Amino acid sequence: MNKKISTYRCQNCNFYYAKWAGKCNECGAWGSVEKDDGSIKPPKNNMFAKRKGEIILFKKNVSKKELSFRKRTGLKEFDRVLGGGLVNSSAILLSGDPGIGKSTLLLQVANSFSQNGANVIYISGEEAEEQIRMRAERLDHKNSNIKIGSETDLNNILATLETEKFDLLIIDSIQTINSDLIDSMPGSVAQVKNCVLELTKVAKSKGFSIIFVGHVTKDGQIAGPKLVEHMVDTVIHFENDNGIDFRILRTLKNRFGASNEIGVFEMTSKGLEEVENPSQLFISERDQVHNGSTIFGALEGSRPVLVEIQTLVAKSSLATPRRTVVGLDSTRLSMILAILDARCSINLSTHDVFLNVAGGIRISEPAADLAVAMALMSAFDKIVLPKNSVIFGELSLSGALRQVTQADLRIKEAEKLGFQNIILPKKSRISQYSHLSLKKYENILEVLQKYIK
Ligand code: TYD
Ligand code: MG
Repeated sequence: MNKKISTYRCQNCNFYYAKWAGKCNECGAWGSVEKDDGSIKPPKNNMFAKRKGEIILFKKNVSKKELSFRKRTGLKEFDRVLGGGLVNSSAILLSGDPGIGKSTLLLQVANSFSQNGANVIYISGEEAEEQIRMRAERLDHKNSNIKIGSETDLNNILATLETEKFDLLIIDSIQTINSDLIDSMPGSVAQVKNCVLELTKVAKSKGFSIIFVGHVTKDGQIAGPKLVEHMVDTVIHFENDNGIDFRILRTLKNRFGASNEIGVFEMTSKGLEEVENPSQLFISERDQVHNGSTIFGALEGSRPVLVEIQTLVAKSSLATPRRTVVGLDSTRLSMILAILDARCSINLSTHDVFLNVAGGIRISEPAADLAVAMALMSAFDKIVLPKNSVIFGELSLSGALRQVTQADLRIKEAEKLGFQNIILPKKSRISQYSHLSLKKYENILEVLQKYIK
């Protein structure tokens, strides 16, 4: 008897199961195991596969197209996050919360790129042509020669790409595009993966770049499988932590440039405006200096930025005092509180601690430790620190200060914005500065004795 056996497959990691399961034991995803629709075949034994044709091999250090490899879109902050411009035939995924401004940003990119002489096609599966046109008018793109289309069928899009000649294709958004060859809903893992695969294949063979818009799920993940992130060359995320008008574009992955690069924009009534000097933005309201506030010389990708760290320490009435952190990892704060307790006898276990990084930026560098620790000390003892100081340094658990990368870049940014005091670890490797007062300390206790007690 020839009985057909069904198989089940995790849509997230492609692990096969003999029977259905609510949770994939392989990747831990819930609700991702579905009956295998045959859209992805398990790999056959390739050893016996027929040889098809030769690949043309190139010498690594000879590049014909080196000069035209990267093209500037003309939107400087966008070019910066891409590592200096758009790489030919590259695939980019732009993710972000709904309403953050992804479509607006890409329309502006399309407009400025086309003014630089490029041909751009913008395909929206979410908005009708008229709506895109209205948005373009609002953005004052009257003479723009980008081509727009509203389509969700992958086959129609592929057919259009055959006949058109262009440099950049924008797909807004990948979750709305579907192919009728795959038997699942638009936005499902199989559809998203297939559409990205098909479109990037055409992009690589025809030599145009492609930008996909990707939605973000409730818990902040890029919707669709993690696999899509592996399928593209660059992943950039548009974010805004504090609900204010500033938007930060951040590189999460980049095969052709530094990751962690940021670009800063402000949403205005006429679209997104580039913020060329973000330091001024993050520390602009510092006329009156309060206790609990310090300026940290941060480095975001290759760009130095000054950010203000604000803290508030207040006696708590709760059995477990509050620790509220915005813009910094909360375990990092716990570690710094433990160091202050163990090495400086500053015990905040009966106090609520609030920490906020001003301007909506997120800090992930350990170099912020010293600035955070000093802000906490100053808030606890109600002592205002010298106004024009910029601080950076990593704390080790012993309380010693460790040097940080690119100290010179951070110092130059501080100097550019009129700061005269720099508080930094003793071991920092830096150049000579004649106009600045550099205060170097070996450990956190020395800093405490100098500024607080
Ligand atoms: P949009 O680009 O549609 O967001 P997304 O594609 O990420 O969902 O942006 C929508 C928001 O931006 C909306 O709340 C209105 C606002 N906006 C402005 O403030 N100014 C503008 O010029 C434009 C075009 C939009
Ligand atoms: Mg949109």
